[in-house]
Amino acid sequence: MVSRLNSLLDFDSISATRIHSFFSLAEKIKEGKMQPRYRGEVAALMFFEASTRTRLSFETAAARAGIGSFYFDSGAKSSLEKGETVEDAILNVAAMQPHVLVIRAPADLPLREISQKINTPIINAGWGAFAHPTQALLDMMTLREAWKVQGGSEQGKKILIVGDLKFSRVASSHIQLSQMLGYQVGQCGPESLLSDSPHVQTFKSLTEGLRWADAVMALRVQFERHGSNVDFSKETYRQQYGLNAVSMAELSKNGFIMHPGPINHGIEMESEVLADPRCLVLDQVKHGVYIREALLRSFLGEGE
Ligand code: CP
Repeated sequence: MVSRLNSLLDFDSISATRIHSFFSLAEKIKEGKMQPRYRGEVAALMFFEASTRTRLSFETAAARAGIGSFYFDSGAKSSLEKGETVEDAILNVAAMQPHVLVIRAPADLPLREISQKINTPIINAGWGAFAHPTQALLDMMTLREAWKVQGGSEQGKKILIVGDLKFSRVASSHIQLSQMLGYQVGQCGPESLLSDSPHVQTFKSLTEGLRWADAVMALRVQFERHGSNVDFSKETYRQQYGLNAVSMAELSKNGFIMHPGPINHGIEMESEVLADPRCLVLDQVKHGVYIREALLRSFLGEGE
């Protein structure tokens, strides 16, 4: 048994060894080798922003693992309506002593400080533009499996992230994870949306980036986070950076196509791309359940 985890807010305080143990456990779960626990353990899911994939995959993962879960709905009938703060809501739910808290939070929530006030470990289910570690892990489980079928691994592989990296917690987590697992991240998109990380290679055009890449990941353009800093129209974006059947001809026939969802059809990706045999979008969602079950189990003391 491995040592208990504190929290997973990003990849700062976690080792590559531990990350590989998450993958191993998720693979065992996928192979049907893990039994449900049924030990009265509870995961509290608290989402202060909208979610489909992350929330429901954690709920599915908990059910499959035999871990009880409850969902705190910040949108309706909670005491947030009476003026309770988000921080107070989290501290009160933590006082009920769930075994793990899964939290999706806006950027202005001081999640790190809150994690230091409670004994319950927190799994970050998406926090502002800072980090979405479980998404990066499920993306890499998906790609590792696909590359394994081709006889390779993630070592030295090149992922082109297209579009809105600056406001993307998924991109932030991939930039961190790439440094730990040995893959490369490239980017292309409107200049106002690019990352300034020194660990990211920038391409002037989508075509140039696609010719470099082993996998391409389109990101949702997060118009709601841009304010007045956007210097392009949706149509310009679609023409220059949208993934479609024509642009996908520039990607290697052994390449892979990804999107964390939700997709803005007709902006960052045309619906026809989902039918491309290289497209892994729904495989990402499937692997999200295995990775999140592995994380829940790891926070309860299981692992390699
Ligand atoms: N990829 C992702 O986080 O999707 P949801 O916002 O639907 O959870």
